[in-house]
Amino acid sequence: MNPITTNNIDQYEGKTVTLSGWLVHKRSSGKVRFLVVRDGTGIAQVTLVKAEMDEEHFERYHSLTLESSLMVTGIVKKDDRAPGGYEILASQLNILQIAEEYPIAEKEHGVGFLLDHRHLWLRSSKQHAVLRVRHTVIQTARRFFDDRGFILLDAPIMTPVACEGTTTLFETDYFEEQKAYLSQSGQLYMEAGAMAFRKVYCCGPTFRAEKSKTRRHLTEFWMIEPEVAFAGLPDIMELAESLIVTIVKEVLSSNREDLRTLERDVSKLEMIESPFESISYDRAVRILRNEGVPFERGNDFGGGDETLISDQFEKPVFIHRYPASSKPFYMKNDPEKSSVVLCMDLLAPEGYGEIIGGSAREEDVELLSQKLSNAGLSPEAFSWYLDLRKYGSVPHAGFGMGIERTVAWICGIPHVRETIPFPRLLQRLYP
Ligand code: 4AD
Ligand code: MG
Repeated sequence: MNPITTNNIDQYEGKTVTLSGWLVHKRSSGKVRFLVVRDGTGIAQVTLVKAEMDEEHFERYHSLTLESSLMVTGIVKKDDRAPGGYEILASQLNILQIAEEYPIAEKEHGVGFLLDHRHLWLRSSKQHAVLRVRHTVIQTARRFFDDRGFILLDAPIMTPVACEGTTTLFETDYFEEQKAYLSQSGQLYMEAGAMAFRKVYCCGPTFRAEKSKTRRHLTEFWMIEPEVAFAGLPDIMELAESLIVTIVKEVLSSNREDLRTLERDVSKLEMIESPFESISYDRAVRILRNEGVPFERGNDFGGGDETLISDQFEKPVFIHRYPASSKPFYMKNDPEKSSVVLCMDLLAPEGYGEIIGGSAREEDVELLSQKLSNAGLSPEAFSWYLDLRKYGSVPHAGFGMGIERTVAWICGIPHVRETIPFPRLLQRLYP
């Protein structure tokens, strides 16, 4: 493998190297010709000087089209004016393939067109920056749990029952007799895992047949979900806060250049430190009413409500203890006020809405069966899940962090569709 890439080119100053990549841009001023080449890690300028190279190689410049693949050999020189800070003074230019007319030219395109060409759009600098941030977010989140002794336990994608309500299930035939559903969350399986390993997490794709066309909803999104035995709501709030602080710090240190490409106001991220504020559902409702929203107590908050609430805070804010009626069956009721559940949502600042949802889980087998029935679910179908409460039940709690919403917030981009390599939306399954 060729060791030189544009992100380590500084180590090759003065040396002759061969760089492989794709053409981003070219221009000519008589006897000197310039290529801007991207190689997947960054960009470098290639300078072609007639006197320095073989005529045939020099003339290959003319056939090069946008995104043509090539290999160039030459001497690395520092040049502050060059994009990327270095140039290669070429002695050879070899073409791998001349690209057909590239559909994503430098002019502005509508987002529909770009999403139709997502397989090519990934090559552009902004998409590159967002997906590099995504890489850091996932890697840091996984390392965060690994470092704290959590065991990675992969949850199944095909499941026999719902976790987060039956209205957003994707259904498929499972051979002749059965239906299978795409997983909405790995949580129920993580609860089994927590009883076996104490602290576990999963990180994978989850699916919701959300009929909503909002900037926060995908039909396929990724979640990282820790679950902890012998833990309660305050424990997982602390864990969630520390996870978010760790992720933001890591992105600020590893992805500075990407944040610059995205023109992200990093001062907003630099203030993300412990402690986060934590308010009750009731207080959140009061905030909305003070803002003139005729919010009905008992409902979950909508996207617009979340934005209004989080606008009161500069850092992420926890909302805890929602009405039991607004949340899924597995949440534990507050022993001090049984109409609410021991749950929390973490709202990101700057209008990005809920990025984390979690709770303490009902650990009593009778109460849990009751809650299943109340939710219109059959306790028989959840018999394995109820077993967890029959054989050494303990208090336990966990949460799920949505990867794409977290990335959207950190990158400061308005829509989650750009935070996943190939978004799946209400009206999009291609490419
Ligand atoms: O609040 P949710 O639905 O929680 C659960 O699924 C729990 N079972 C997690 C757990 O406790 N283990 O989803 C968690 C997070 C949300 O806060 C949000 O960030 C993200 O998942 N999310 C979505 N992201 C993109 N598109 C969607 N349609 C999403 N639905 C939820
Ligand atoms: Mg939620």
